[in-house]
Amino acid sequence: MEKAINAQINAEFYSSYLYLAMSAHFESISLAGMANWMRMQAQEELFHGMKMYDFVHERGGKVELDLITAPPAKWKTALSVFEEVLKHEQKVTSLINKLVDHALDERDHATNIFLQWFVTEQVEEEASASSIVEKLKLIGKDANGLFVLDQELALRVFTPPVA
Ligand SMILES: [Fe+2]
Ligand SMILES: [Fe+2]
Repeated sequence: MEKAINAQINAEFYSSYLYLAMSAHFESISLAGMANWMRMQAQEELFHGMKMYDFVHERGGKVELDLITAPPAKWKTALSVFEEVLKHEQKVTSLINKLVDHALDERDHATNIFLQWFVTEQVEEEASASSIVEKLKLIGKDANGLFVLDQELALRVFTPPVA
């Protein structure tokens, strides 16, 4: 179980790195609101990784940090970026579900309860990515629509939830 959570810490840090790369991409094409949304998303993923990091130690385990894979650097359209976010979050959801299966197999109730927070979080993660994908599809090639959405995404802030 410890090894599996260590692997998930790496996956959360990769998620953070991926969203930071997307943020840098949006900065480079002057979509500052989308860059902000991704930057907040990157912070949130770091928080997820650290939540697991603390849990491993709390349970008397040892965290071992692994290499973080380089994320892509370029995307064709804003829609393709957010489609990738949605796809990535769906993948993370399946990783979290596998961790829960693992905890249940080992009758590790404490880890199972700990992971429930992430199960709920993933529902929200998929929903927010999916709603932006839907908006971008409606916007299509309309520059005004893209501008309005960019302004909306500029408003996102990250406040770490109280444990
Ligand atoms: Fe996450
Ligand atoms: Fe996420």
